[in-house]
Amino acid sequence: MVDQTTPDEHAVVPFLRAGPPPDRTRWEGWQQWRKIRDTFVPAPHLTLAEHQYLSPRRRALHDLHRTATHVNMRLQETPMSMRVANLMRGRLQNNAMKFMPGTRDGLMINGGGFQGKTETACDAAASFEDVRRNIHHQLLPGRTPGTRDVFVPVAYCRLPVRATPKGLCKAILNVYGDPHPGTLDDLVRAVRDAIRDHHTSALLIDDVTRLRLHREDDQDTLDLIRELMDLNVTLVLIGVDIPGSGLLRGAYVDPRTGQWVFPDVKNGKNHEAMAATQTGRRFDMVDLDPFDYSTLAGITAFLDHLAGIEEQLRLLRSFTGMLTTGEMPEYLFDRTRGVVGLLRRLIEDGCAEAITTREERLTKELLARTTIHLGNLNDLDEGAGEIPEIPQDVTSPQPESPRKRGRNTVLDDRGERPAAGD
Ligand SMILES: Nc1ncnc2c1ncn2[C@@H]1O[C@H](COP(=O)(O)OP(=O)(O)O)[C@@H](O)[C@H]1O
Ligand SMILES: [Mg+2]
Repeated sequence: MVDQTTPDEHAVVPFLRAGPPPDRTRWEGWQQWRKIRDTFVPAPHLTLAEHQYLSPRRRALHDLHRTATHVNMRLQETPMSMRVANLMRGRLQNNAMKFMPGTRDGLMINGGGFQGKTETACDAAASFEDVRRNIHHQLLPGRTPGTRDVFVPVAYCRLPVRATPKGLCKAILNVYGDPHPGTLDDLVRAVRDAIRDHHTSALLIDDVTRLRLHREDDQDTLDLIRELMDLNVTLVLIGVDIPGSGLLRGAYVDPRTGQWVFPDVKNGKNHEAMAATQTGRRFDMVDLDPFDYSTLAGITAFLDHLAGIEEQLRLLRSFTGMLTTGEMPEYLFDRTRGVVGLLRRLIEDGCAEAITTREERLTKELLARTTIHLGNLNDLDEGAGEIPEIPQDVTSPQPESPRKRGRNTVLDDRGERPAAGD
């Protein structure tokens, strides 16, 4: 009931968080994020009548809570994200169990901007860490409370726009809050020491395709990536169009395993010798794709995702099937080309509009007025292909208009039912 679920008149507001969001690229921020990542409590479901019955202050608070709910929707498993996450968790766990020194097979996560690479990888790494910390706790009991936590099983860093090899080393050292020596050799040494001292077993380098590979730094960069692979960590490289970025120069695909192999140039071993001994630095490449609206399985996955979003919305006039029935799914697909991040932006902004205008439900007409904003573009590297193309001039599908593509009607008969209390 209303009285049990809404904050009372003078209580602190539990869903508001003070301060900036945690910075995952520093170990303290990563820890903070890891612990709170699943703790957001969405606003309670209220009917229109219950909402009207609230005092003005409570109604305002509830609206704030609804807004917080719409901009903090949880990550949903999609078939595409599940594939990436499973591969990554499996790889991290297997590698972390290896006792022998030597290179660990790495992972490259490839996909266009806003397709969920960062969030999928961070979530998989965090759940790996949850398990790892638990074990570490058993292995090393009795750590002194209040001392600096030197155990950093996962290091997550992001490259700045137009990064150089030194920039990459600094980004890694920043995770640990370590100082930056002046020369590249010293930086690499410091990175190696930090990874060893903090028992890091997974090193995630996000936006790795920001490394510019058309200047004299090229060879330095490629050498550095090789050096990182030689540390006892699982290297996870995340980027847009990794194959086209130049990062794989000198590498080849082992036809037997499908893995990318980086030969050791300095030792002068040739491809055949490397493949024959199964050694070398090996990477699996996995693509994180957008939803696909051309197959039944793809449409089903997209509808499941929409149903998951719908369930999280707190609009007072929403109804079951608001996003999943009629022409809405196809319209949402056309607006976003099935890119999860664009869909999220559209829904967030649409909900804000629906609350402001008191329409309190999402319709094609309302969404047609909603522009997809990508947020802070300074944070994105256009040259590295991070800004996705946003479809423009998408018209509402009209039943009688000529179709650009045969609409799949297999899943159309779910029926529109009004929500209880509407
Ligand atoms: N599986 C998912 N379910 C719901 N939202 C997602 C999912 N994956 C990504 N998102 C959202 O999409 C947006 C873009 O994701 P992000 O990981 O930053 O993409 P990328 O790193 O590929 O550019 C973020 O707001 C993120 O929360
Ligand atoms: Mg990203």
